[in-house]
Amino acid sequence: MVKHLLSMQDLSPNEIEAILDDAAGLKEKLRRGEPHELLRGKTLGMIFEKPSLRTRVTFETGMTQLGGHAIYLAPADIQLGKRESVPDTARNLSRWVDAVMARLFKHDIIVELARHSSVPVINGLTDLHHPCQTLGDLLTIREHKGKLRGLKLAWVGDGNNVCNSLLLGCTLVGMNISAVCPHGYEPDANVMTQAKKNAEKSGAKLELLTNPKKAVAGADVIYTDVWVSMGQEKEAKRRMRAFEGYQVNAQLLKLAKPNVIVMHCLPAHRGQEITDEVIDGPRSVVLDQAENRMHAQKALLVSLLA
Ligand code: CP
Ligand code: NVA
Repeated sequence: MVKHLLSMQDLSPNEIEAILDDAAGLKEKLRRGEPHELLRGKTLGMIFEKPSLRTRVTFETGMTQLGGHAIYLAPADIQLGKRESVPDTARNLSRWVDAVMARLFKHDIIVELARHSSVPVINGLTDLHHPCQTLGDLLTIREHKGKLRGLKLAWVGDGNNVCNSLLLGCTLVGMNISAVCPHGYEPDANVMTQAKKNAEKSGAKLELLTNPKKAVAGADVIYTDVWVSMGQEKEAKRRMRAFEGYQVNAQLLKLAKPNVIVMHCLPAHRGQEITDEVIDGPRSVVLDQAENRMHAQKALLVSLLA
């Protein structure tokens, strides 16, 4: 059976650990200037329905460093489901490329794409999940804290795609996670059910709160993301009001551990979910996260394709 990465739940804790180890190895090889063309001659097709800086550049650069190459397909090129049906697109791409990465609006569509694809499909963000972000984030946390198990991550803000993937990723590897979200903006209910099951197995603690001050107490990691995700622009006004009081700022940071690290998947809306002072401050690791997307995804691509 073809292996896809549509959600963090597609990986076992051991597989996550192996990807992080391989990512660290590939990062070191790159630093030393050692060639690591493990995917020579391989091609990744990349379908984008939404804009991207990090996802596009990290996958494209990563494939080049691995000796392969990536094709960028812009929203106007493919017009998934409009110019051509999702199954037909999957069947065609499977005849040419070795893997497909897709950034789509609806998660159901990437599930359909994968069902009809005979090559691995990687989720580069949907409305429900962003697993590649979580892989890069876990690598970043491990680098800064030397471990994952037993740490506490506080998610502050919208229970969105990035939050859903972290909930699954953290509970799979035994990290405690407190998600603090306003009423009506909680993480996906099915994701929460799955995360609870993961937590029972791994021993992680999982809680859903509404008071940011309570959630960040004793946190090793504070994580936030935009209040208005791509595709939610029409809800912007309502969301701005709902998320008042959920800003990650210097006062909130004081309530966490002194060595807390602050994370954001980027792009950030400075002055909304996070202040300039915090995102540019000494506790912020946002650029390490951005860099580590590439190393983690290279390891993922090798695990799926080599
Ligand atoms: N974090 C992230 O996925 O960034 P892009 O939207 O720029 O790809
Ligand atoms: N939650 C954000 C993440 C962007 C990388 C969005 O979906 O727009």
